[in-house]
Amino acid sequence: MTADRTGPSTTAARGVAAEADFATALDVAAAIAALSPSSHNCQPWAVAWARTTAARAATARALAPPALTGPAASPTEVPVHPVHLVLALDNRRRLRALPALHVEMLVSCGAYWRLLLRALAAQGWGADGLRLAPGGLLEPPGEAWPWPGPGPANWPRSLAPLCVARLRYDAGDAARAEDLPALRATAGARRTHRAPYRPEPLAPDLLERLEGERPAGGIAVRHLTTDADRAALADFVARHAGRDFSHGPAWRETHSYLRFSEADAVARGDGFTLGELFGPLSWPHERALRSALAPATMRALRHVGYPRLLARQLAAVVRPTPALTVMSLTGTRPPTLADGVRAGARVADYWLYATGEGLVLHPISAVLQHEAPRRLLEDRFRIKGRAFFLSRIGRPATEFPAFPRSHRRSAGAALRTI
Ligand SMILES: Cc1cc2nc3c(=O)[nH]c(=O)nc-3n(C[C@H](O)[C@H](O)[C@H](O)COP(=O)(O)O)c2cc1C
Repeated sequence: MTADRTGPSTTAARGVAAEADFATALDVAAAIAALSPSSHNCQPWAVAWARTTAARAATARALAPPALTGPAASPTEVPVHPVHLVLALDNRRRLRALPALHVEMLVSCGAYWRLLLRALAAQGWGADGLRLAPGGLLEPPGEAWPWPGPGPANWPRSLAPLCVARLRYDAGDAARAEDLPALRATAGARRTHRAPYRPEPLAPDLLERLEGERPAGGIAVRHLTTDADRAALADFVARHAGRDFSHGPAWRETHSYLRFSEADAVARGDGFTLGELFGPLSWPHERALRSALAPATMRALRHVGYPRLLARQLAAVVRPTPALTVMSLTGTRPPTLADGVRAGARVADYWLYATGEGLVLHPISAVLQHEAPRRLLEDRFRIKGRAFFLSRIGRPATEFPAFPRSHRRSAGAALRTI
């Protein structure tokens, strides 16, 4: 969190104490949430803590009944000083080359938000009011929501609000909440694992637990495990993933997230190095790959089938994987922005649960990013609703992954006060 932490003071001593405690809890939670996965590791999220009187009033209004969810305070309860947070999509950080990437931005923000709220709840700060922005899944979030009028004076114009939450501290909740060190450890252990997986099938009861109640909250989770389905999915990737590599704007955007030195990756704290994507590389191999992946080369090599070759390489990694996860939106038709944020929460819970069970994931989004292949995939594999997440899932073939870890911006970079 930045220096404006000292911001406006409240008159009630109790309120001041609550604010100081919350500031600490928020820093702890943000450090955990920063470990969230995001498409291209672009980390498109921002969170604002409403501290000025005007900002608090505006966020409280956004939560006003009847939109208020969660248990209502009983008349005998002592009112506890609430705090208000706003999750936003940072438009300066979002991917924009394809319409479907907007869904990935909502999913990434939703995953971060879920981890943040879980880490806050683990410290006793539970959300008792939550409201998601209106609008369609593919529409840019409305500028006006949730502020009637101009909104808080210092609301950054680059941030599009996605969700408002009211949180209260409850010592009883803190005692009952999930274990914070365990959550931190699992969030730290989770990573995208692009190397080979052990070929043995995953236990059906484990897959069932991962699927949860079907379909919960308008989100269905399906596992493709039969030999026929897995082979068909690998063929599908070989046939269709090349489209993503040969799409000029999409590839240029992906390429802008490649970091060609460790120093650059550390300094920027986002994107991915070639080592993260392809594993350990000799220096000549890295140089060759670097030129082959350059947008100009990709444009030229497109005519000699290079994107298809990359797609076949991806399919070769997919083929021996014991299971594939497909998540889809099955609720509102057409799906909404709120569905996209909730989908991210489901991805976060799923991925963390899988990590706790010793499993690893590797999303394969290339075949979901274009409308035609996505629809074909939904038809071919009888997916209910709109597919938004496709991933390999399994156990790592080697215990110590040779692929290096991804980088992050400092946790405080995503936080601000309004
Ligand atoms: C919605 C979404 C889509 C993703 N799609 C892909 C993908 O197609 N290929 C891939 O290798 N990684 C994909 N990833 C993984 C990210 O690249 C990864 O989360 C990010 O680089 C950070 O690395 P980490 O997960 O190891 O912390 C995706 C992640 C998310 C959240």
